[in-house]
Amino acid sequence: MHRRQFLRVTGGGVVLAATAGCSTALPAEALAAWQGPSAGEQDVRRWILSYAILAPHSHNLQSWRVDLRTPGEILLYCDLTRLLPQTDPFSRQILMSQGTFLELLDLAARERGQRAEITLFPAGEFGPERPDERPVARIVLRPDAAVTRDPLFAQILRRRTNREAYEARLPEPAAIRAVLQATDGQPFRVDVTRGDAAELAAHRAIAAEAWRLELTTPRTLMESYHYLRIGPREIAAHRDGISLNSPMVRFADAVGLFDRTQTPAPDDANVRRQIEDFQGKLAATPAFYWLVSEGNGRVAQVQAGRAYVRAQLAATAQGLSMQPLSQALQEYPEQAGPYARVHALLQAPAPRFTVQMWARIGHAPAIAPSPRRGLPAQLMA
Ligand SMILES: Cc1cc2nc3c(=O)[nH]c(=O)nc-3n(C[C@H](O)[C@H](O)[C@H](O)COP(=O)(O)O)c2cc1C
Repeated sequence: MHRRQFLRVTGGGVVLAATAGCSTALPAEALAAWQGPSAGEQDVRRWILSYAILAPHSHNLQSWRVDLRTPGEILLYCDLTRLLPQTDPFSRQILMSQGTFLELLDLAARERGQRAEITLFPAGEFGPERPDERPVARIVLRPDAAVTRDPLFAQILRRRTNREAYEARLPEPAAIRAVLQATDGQPFRVDVTRGDAAELAAHRAIAAEAWRLELTTPRTLMESYHYLRIGPREIAAHRDGISLNSPMVRFADAVGLFDRTQTPAPDDANVRRQIEDFQGKLAATPAFYWLVSEGNGRVAQVQAGRAYVRAQLAATAQGLSMQPLSQALQEYPEQAGPYARVHALLQAPAPRFTVQMWARIGHAPAIAPSPRRGLPAQLMA
């Protein structure tokens, strides 16, 4: 271990946020899904689903349960054991994460000349409080010569949520246009900051405060800790959650300097460093993206997820990275201030409007993909 790193650890400072950037290679079995479908895959549904499971999902929970037992049909359910009741009390982000899956499914179906007929909530829509056992979607695939391929398909294997520090240079206007055009015609208002200093300062301040609140609210911090996977053994065993694999964090975990079972004190050095680290990343972030819906029903949430992943794929094609900033959009009481402020900043007064996605966007160093459980783990018996 580098001496300075060692001193930081032994001095009590375990850096979590920073480690997202310096993790060593993840175990191969956790990344196998990023090879795409196996060359000999005969079942078109499995071929398509091998791409859908690469969708972004809040906390990488991959709450997709797939029923293939009826020939010619795919039923998508939400895994009710993979929710985030503290940070996402009404499962808005979980529903968005069903949408990201459906969009990649649709792109992959087009690639195979199939029209994916997607019926949302075929047994009725979830209530506003929580998802239930009813399916999120029924998908029927129909071969259709008229179906058009979408160039965004080519970005599925390249897309990453990038938590690194972004370069200060502004994204090129043409690149931003491509990101916004990816959701043309959809019932959302989308936009990106264009470098106005006061506007950027307002975005950064709200995101920093929301992040601080999340890390200093014990139950929301502990929910995130629950989904941390530290070191190759945990990462390979779970293949979900947020992976931390830097030597420093693994060491701290191994010697008990980082205890995930205890709520840290509000002035805890590790928490403080995470807050500062993220402030630094926000300060360097050159631009912010947002997606606003009118209304906040379950269908709007799913469609917002579909739209967001299209924007992220388009950004990928333009050489841009994105990272959602969900904290201020979360509906738990401690976030009421940042929630109101971000809705005011984006001229989306609640409850009529909902900021479904807010993300930083810019040029960033290349990173490895995040783990996936793999299709067999998501299929219902
Ligand atoms: C609705 C939604 C909300 C998300 N919120 C955050 C967030 O607040 N911070 C973050 O770093 N990533 C966020 N993500 C990204 C996920 O953590 C990421 O998709 C997951 O870890 C898998 O990584 P990948 O996107 O690189 O495949 C969000 C993703 C979705 C779909």
